[in-house]
Amino acid sequence: MFPTTRLRRLRYHPAVRELVRETRLSPANLILPLFVRPGKAIREPIAAMPGQAQLSPDVLVDEIREVAKLGLGGVLLFGIPSTKDALGSDAMSDSGIIAEAVRAAKQAAPDLLLITDLCCCEYTDHGHCGALSESTGRIDVDNDATLELIARQALVHARAGADMIAPSGMMDGMVRAIRQALDGDGFQHVPIMSYSAKYASGFYGPFREAAESAPQFGDRRSYQMDPAAAAGQAMREIELDLAEGADLVMVKPALPYLDVIRDARERFPGVPLAAYNVSGEYSMVKAAAERGWFDEQRIALECLTSIRRAGASIILTYWAKDAARWLA
Ligand code: PBG
Repeated sequence: MFPTTRLRRLRYHPAVRELVRETRLSPANLILPLFVRPGKAIREPIAAMPGQAQLSPDVLVDEIREVAKLGLGGVLLFGIPSTKDALGSDAMSDSGIIAEAVRAAKQAAPDLLLITDLCCCEYTDHGHCGALSESTGRIDVDNDATLELIARQALVHARAGADMIAPSGMMDGMVRAIRQALDGDGFQHVPIMSYSAKYASGFYGPFREAAESAPQFGDRRSYQMDPAAAAGQAMREIELDLAEGADLVMVKPALPYLDVIRDARERFPGVPLAAYNVSGEYSMVKAAAERGWFDEQRIALECLTSIRRAGASIILTYWAKDAARWLA
């Protein structure tokens, strides 16, 4: 008790503060999401995400070379095709935008970990994460029909040279479908990082401009998790993904779901746990910093530290490049 115990003694000397720090950020645990679109010499700024842009494959190559020098854990690629259709055909073609981007990036920096986001919503004209059907009496994403599309996409990614595949569509059985497709085609060594506990979140708003993937009608609540669902439901999602063969699991978004990250860390101690610090979490800080309301670097590092402290060992973040420089 006071006065014998004074916790301020641990804070008085800056070197003691440094010594007793337990949560450390390293660029090696950060993954940078990047958006690729067809064309040449394009760096199209994303208005809702200051500092981020859609890149054509040649510009992606420059970006990848720069990123490779920063010691980041890797990059996560999203493809935005020029033509979209009901099934997202571009994603299932070896000459589609994601395949082209992966080949170009892999050639530019063979040692940089290249992860592909696997979903239909950037490729479909309706913007939903799968094939639509009305078989249940109302229009909805048909889970099992979508699994076939997902399996085909996984092979496109793997053949192009993706090092890791990250399915984000929240379809039941998606990990199993991808694992079977990969294993059947000689890609047993390619790991799956599943967006296991992905919530139907308003924080994806800016991303939908970045990926041009806003649903043209309705929303994603019939497949993404309800924010108010029991955290135990997220644990069931993770458990099922692991049983289906997921190698790494993810909670998304990060900051409003730190409790879920903590639960996952405690419940699955041996499983690599990632968290996605999503577009809205990034953009709201950017917007406030632009107004001079606070210091971007300080807030960004505080956010990333809190995600790490909650228990995520890997963070997907649009600040990855900045953070690597700040931490250097
Ligand atoms: C695609 C996908 C989304 C994000 C990652 N993959 C959007 C969505 O589900 O609507 C969001 C990323 C972000 O907001 O930064 N399924």
